[in-house]
Amino acid sequence: MMTELTIAMPKGRIFDEALELLKQAGYNLPPEFDDSRRLIIEVPEEKLTFILAKPMDVPTYVEHGVADLGIAGKDVMLEEERDVYELLDLKISPCYLAVAGLPGTTMSEVAPKIATKYPTIASGYFREQGEQVEIIKLNGSIELAPMIGLADRIVDIVSTGRTLKENGLVEYEKIVGITSRLIVNPVSYRMKDERIDELAERLRDVVSRITV
Ligand code: PRP
Repeated sequence: MMTELTIAMPKGRIFDEALELLKQAGYNLPPEFDDSRRLIIEVPEEKLTFILAKPMDVPTYVEHGVADLGIAGKDVMLEEERDVYELLDLKISPCYLAVAGLPGTTMSEVAPKIATKYPTIASGYFREQGEQVEIIKLNGSIELAPMIGLADRIVDIVSTGRTLKENGLVEYEKIVGITSRLIVNPVSYRMKDERIDELAERLRDVVSRITV
């Protein structure tokens, strides 16, 4: 009998690309995926259950074992530092984390303020640079912070660069490149290794075909 798997999927911009990968890997997923507010979607024919989570929460579900697998951005992995394994780079949703701010400005000499959704990554980055900064945690629309005088710099995701440009901000430093990853709970991986390896293999095939 085929083992049941639960997969935590990130709602939002990664979702469509992740769904497309699964479909290309041959999983037969019902139409309610594309247009539904349901948070748990069961696909009995495939013995799969999907949990639709906030992207930042995906590693939490996987670490606690309520999802065997998850799809999470590398940004979320670096920020959350959860006890999960990364199985595969899915190469979807490429973007990077960068330091940005108003053009032609220098940071305050004393405790410059850095606004970000990523306090762990940002504080680690500035510590490595030998700079003492004050981190201001925001939950979105980070680009507002330098524009209205809340922060000297932001640390945020840059994808097309449009948000920076349209708000008159410039990039100062790139921190790290980001793509989405397939992650797994270590205990699930031990208990359900055959099914998980098969799923990872099917996805690996699709990813290698797309990136060739
Ligand atoms: C992300 C990120 C930037 C933007 C970058 O925000 O925080 O604001 O996308 O994309 P771009 O370079 O293509 O313009 P998101 O849309 O996830 O919303 P948020 O502001 O609520 O974080």
